[in-house]
Amino acid sequence: MTPVADIPSLAGQTAVVTGATSGLGLEAAVALARAGARVLMVGRDPVRTVAALEDVRRRLGVGGGRGTVESLLCDLSSQASIRRLAAQVLALAPSLEILVNNAGTVSVKRKVTVDDIETTFAVNHLGYYLLTRLLCDRIVASAPARIVNVASHLHYKGTLDLGDLGFERGYHVLSAYARSKLGNVLFTRELAKRLRGTGVTVTALHPGSVASNIWSGAPRWTQPLLAIAKRLFMISPEQGAGRIIYLAASPDVAGDTGLYFEHDRPTPPSPLACDDALAARLWEASARLVRLDA
Ligand SMILES: NC(=O)c1ccc[n+]([C@@H]2O[C@H](COP(=O)([O-])OP(=O)(O)OC[C@H]3O[C@@H](n4cnc5c(N)ncnc54)[C@H](OP(=O)(O)O)[C@@H]3O)[C@@H](O)[C@H]2O)c1
Repeated sequence: MTPVADIPSLAGQTAVVTGATSGLGLEAAVALARAGARVLMVGRDPVRTVAALEDVRRRLGVGGGRGTVESLLCDLSSQASIRRLAAQVLALAPSLEILVNNAGTVSVKRKVTVDDIETTFAVNHLGYYLLTRLLCDRIVASAPARIVNVASHLHYKGTLDLGDLGFERGYHVLSAYARSKLGNVLFTRELAKRLRGTGVTVTALHPGSVASNIWSGAPRWTQPLLAIAKRLFMISPEQGAGRIIYLAASPDVAGDTGLYFEHDRPTPPSPLACDDALAARLWEASARLVRLDA
């Protein structure tokens, strides 16, 4: 892995990072700003978002960072909110060289969003899909540029029923999460195909098992075990974010696109995630759900 300190200067580049209030997103924002980027940190809760912004500014001051950070609000479970965010980004950023789709959620109980879509699928997959599509022309115009989708090893467990994307039948926290992460890898594959030749690369990754807040959404009975696992086996959010930054900025992977990474290496994703026809059908189904042309 390229140590974050070794990534080239990102001065003059603008990056958007979703889920920047904690865990991987917060640390990715710090690292991108330290490398000189102008970072637009996206959070959903005003208090947590301001706290994260101040935290990053404090840390940049201490480390002598060269970039800048600003914050924007968006609840990625709401398509109207994503559209407002995209409009703000387009107004603020004449160029956009890095998009890190990172915000993620898990839910023990099945819930639906204001758009009547199962929440895990809506935030983790459609949130990436809609935001990226709305920003895509600006990203292409800013090429060379990179889109990094934070997926998960759990995508290997993912299934896809295009007739019941939101698990109206047989909802389970892990199945819903795994499906959303399979969606991230399929989206990466299809988007990379569509953007070939533009100078924009699209990659997905498993950041590792990271001691972050996401586990607080796991069933209550697993919490004592998770507390032990966090201490003994999991990597820190900073280490996990290093893998995001590697894909977002390292010259080692400058031309790599459509690939899924684990431990900083391209890794074959699940057989379902390699199915081009399925990737195209998910793209079309997602376009219908967010009311965009496919
Ligand atoms: N941790 C791991 O071991 C692991 C492993 C594989 C993949 N991942 C992936 O890594 C990504 C980051 O997760 P993390 O581990 O850093 O967890 P985290 O600390 O819980 O961070 C998740 C971020 O997503 C934001 N978020 C959740 N729902 C949102 C919504 N509706 N609208 C806008 N933002 C929302 C959270 O905001 P709030 O602060 O407002 O909650 C938070 O900033 C996720 O995509 C996750 O699937 C994590």
